[in-house]
Amino acid sequence: MYALNVNGKSYSVNVTAETPLLWVLRDLLGLTGTKYGCGIEVCGACTVLVDGQPEKSCDMDTSSAAGKKIVTIEGLSPDRSHPAQKAWIEHQVPQCGYCQSGMIMACAGAMQAGHHGKEILSEMNNVCVCGTYSRIKDAVQGL
Ligand code: FES
Ligand code: FES
Repeated sequence: MYALNVNGKSYSVNVTAETPLLWVLRDLLGLTGTKYGCGIEVCGACTVLVDGQPEKSCDMDTSSAAGKKIVTIEGLSPDRSHPAQKAWIEHQVPQCGYCQSGMIMACAGAMQAGHHGKEILSEMNNVCVCGTYSRIKDAVQGL
């Protein structure tokens, strides 16, 4: 049993220590905004915040996440009012949308670390197969 704090709520999950956090979020807690892409820590579709740091949840053991504060796209704001979410909407960033929750969480993590504009971009190494990079750049510019 592992105690997880996700989006301000406490959960007890009965999984093995090595179960990826992503599986727990999606399959046990129903938080499907966090996506599975590559499964090998490359694409960033599975990015969540763990104690304020962007982490790729496909490669994070549940045992490592226990006792830390996890935030998923569902918990970033109650009403899409986080500045990154507002910028994404203003610049109509998503195409298919699959990568975008990970993109926004990576951006939010960089913002939480005190970065702005180009600094945020340099911290984001997520992959978008639709190629929305120029709109991401525009969205991040004013943050
Ligand atoms: S699914 Fe985790 S980095 Fe691609
Ligand atoms: S918007 Fe389709 S993968 Fe990024």
